[in-house]
Amino acid sequence: MQVCRTIGEIREFTNKARVAGKTVGLVPTMGYFHEGHLNLMREAKKKCDVVVVSLYVNPLQFGPKEDLGEYPRDFDRDCAMARSVGADAVFAPGNDEMYPAGYSSFVEVTGITGKLCGSSRPGHFRGVTTVVAKLFNIVRPDQAFFGQKDAQQAMVVEKMVRDLNMGLEIVTLPIVREADGLAMSSRNVYLDEEQRQTAPVLYHSLCAFRDAVADGERNVPKLRRGIEEMISSTPGAKVDYVEILSVPDLELLDTLNGKCIAALAVRFGKTRLIDNMVVEV
Ligand code: PAJ
Repeated sequence: MQVCRTIGEIREFTNKARVAGKTVGLVPTMGYFHEGHLNLMREAKKKCDVVVVSLYVNPLQFGPKEDLGEYPRDFDRDCAMARSVGADAVFAPGNDEMYPAGYSSFVEVTGITGKLCGSSRPGHFRGVTTVVAKLFNIVRPDQAFFGQKDAQQAMVVEKMVRDLNMGLEIVTLPIVREADGLAMSSRNVYLDEEQRQTAPVLYHSLCAFRDAVADGERNVPKLRRGIEEMISSTPGAKVDYVEILSVPDLELLDTLNGKCIAALAVRFGKTRLIDNMVVEV
């Protein structure tokens, strides 16, 4: 597995693969890998001849009061894990490589970025779409792999690719969970023991939502309240948002109809966790 620190190096690597007639898959990440990341890499390896994993903690998508400085990092462990699932190259640029002095271009998707994480993290998706567009231009993959864990991110990236005719396929893969239902996240390491024990309430509230829908409940405010009350009554959990919206337009609904997503963000102390579940009626 090749480790590339510069745009020149990864370009040379992917150009060689393309000249040899090979397809290229890209898995964009911020590192500190867990099974969720590895699953994206394994699927990429099944679908593409060559898999590039980008590992870059993108400062542009963190707000001034967010956890950029503390974001967990372990480059050697990440490289070993990527290698173990057959990644062919890791692209791990520094900030000067991605945003050299004088950098001033940004990519912004409007509309759906105003909801959910977009409203509680202003500027976040502009940072995501800018870095992802750059990664697409650098690596020029045939397919790029994203997780349903960040459902809105995957939708925003898909919209960007469609709107800007980027000509690659976005593959979105299911949420990988711990045995107790907690969605895997690099940020789970921030949780103390007690928070870690209570955090699966996010998943439990979404399962209760899914069960209520299966039992015929269609009243969105009522379903939303059910999720919110279950989380709010959990000691130490503070709801950032709970929303039930249409997919893929993320419109507010009164009555559940078609494909919908229940999405939530919850704080445990300083740690903000997200989760979601899609239902179709
Ligand atoms: P990061 O949080 O490292 O996540 C990288 C990819 O792994 C994303 O597509 C995310 O949805 C997916 N992922 C994370 N946890 C998952 C889980 N439990 N199950 C399934 N997939 C999971 O998302 C980012 O990085 C960044 O915003 C990035 C796209 C790299 C741009 O900087």
